[in-house]
Amino acid sequence: MKSQRLAWKDFLAQRQAVLDSWPTGRDVAAIEDGLRYQRAIPEDKSFAKAMSKAKAAGRTLLQPRAGVALIDDHIRLLRYLETEGTADLLPTTIDAYTRQNRYEEAARGIEKSRAAGTSLLNGFPAVNHGRDGCRAVTEAVTKPVQVRHGTPDARLLAEISLAGGFTSYEGGGISYNIPYAKKVEIGKCLRDWQYVDRLVGHYEENGISINREPFGPLTGTLVPPFISHAVAILEGLLALDQGVKSITLGYGQGGNVLQDLAALASLRELADEYFRKAGFEGYDLTLVFHQWMGGFPEDEAKAFAVISLGTFVAAAGRVEKTIVKSPHEAMGIPTKEANAAGLKATRQVLSMMADQQICADNAIVRREMDLIRREVDSVMSAVLGAAGDDIVQGIVRAFAGGILDVPFAPSIYNKGKVLPVRDNEGCIRLFAKGNLPLGEDIMSFHKERLQERSKAEGRPVTFQMVTDDIYAISKGKLIGRPR
Ligand code: 5AD
Repeated sequence: MKSQRLAWKDFLAQRQAVLDSWPTGRDVAAIEDGLRYQRAIPEDKSFAKAMSKAKAAGRTLLQPRAGVALIDDHIRLLRYLETEGTADLLPTTIDAYTRQNRYEEAARGIEKSRAAGTSLLNGFPAVNHGRDGCRAVTEAVTKPVQVRHGTPDARLLAEISLAGGFTSYEGGGISYNIPYAKKVEIGKCLRDWQYVDRLVGHYEENGISINREPFGPLTGTLVPPFISHAVAILEGLLALDQGVKSITLGYGQGGNVLQDLAALASLRELADEYFRKAGFEGYDLTLVFHQWMGGFPEDEAKAFAVISLGTFVAAAGRVEKTIVKSPHEAMGIPTKEANAAGLKATRQVLSMMADQQICADNAIVRREMDLIRREVDSVMSAVLGAAGDDIVQGIVRAFAGGILDVPFAPSIYNKGKVLPVRDNEGCIRLFAKGNLPLGEDIMSFHKERLQERSKAEGRPVTFQMVTDDIYAISKGKLIGRPR
């Protein structure tokens, strides 16, 4: 693989148009201003440092999601989550207009929220609030703060939020496009994310480590581990190529505990291997585990149970960070109290697990790790084979040919031919592989496991079974068995 690092002159050639796309872009025109500001941020508010310390100490940090329209309200919310909720790391979740670069509508949302005295946006419109609004937020709290969003073209948001004191930036050219957008061309999105990663690389070259986190769970809907792993590894390679050093790869809870533990262990192992093989060194790789990203039970007690089981896996899997859900998940954006309640439940389980070593070295975990490795290797060698010298082109071609295919994604550039379903123990398997480059040996294992479930339930594997699985957890089960 040849480096596709964006030349600084090409970065600058794009930069003016990026900053001109909304008036607040003017405030970050001097890139040195952002560097100077970041240099003065105390070390204990560095996201990269916090993640690497957690790795050294074998600790799992907890982080909520949160964002409202107005600066003062957002500050109050974050302060509540760090004090009452004991969050180790803070988020700033960006609203849907900003994610689509619709800053005029975000501006109207801000005005209407002021008039209404409550947030009428589903997140914090960081671009509209600009550099100084972001600084007000990051200065008002004691913990590191990350931008969490879902933005295909996140260049301006990155410029403003990094100059604004955020020390971590979520997303990637696949994970913030395919699950989030319908019509964003993959090559364009990957190039826009090369800009973001190059900006982070520039900070890194100037002694400021900004943490980067590709979005692991993708659609959060029965995604087999090897699919999200392949995407995470590719986005990791793209980020490292632009000079990123602090990289956190993610995985969303699938539900079968042993498959999840195998997925976490193999993500760490495989990512490290692929990064080294590509010639990268000196990076700091950490993991984030997302508590269940699919449909939640409405009942709050049941939601706490889902949160707690996820937390157990995060602790047993020894990840550096877990993203916390709330008991309001089935209803929508949580109140600050519900958000803190999710954090407290998570904290309780993490604390009880802190000194326990769960031995994941058992036959089933080993079998699943071996399977995931073979699957990831099959997909990665096909993508890299299609890439020639250019990994961006390789990814574009892989999606066009269905070599990469994310289940249940809205993007028209995703084939959508893969159908996952649970086996008789709740592991996520493939019912239809579409064009994924998986060999007969791998597919016959998936088939066997599904036949077992088919026999146990006395019904064939059909799309009905897939649908039953999608709703199972919200209805109190893991596997969508017939009644
Ligand atoms: N505040 C809190 N949580 C949010 N989510 C999305 N936006 C916000 C916000 N502004 C959460 C959803 C879901 C996840 C994908 O993100 O509730 O759990």
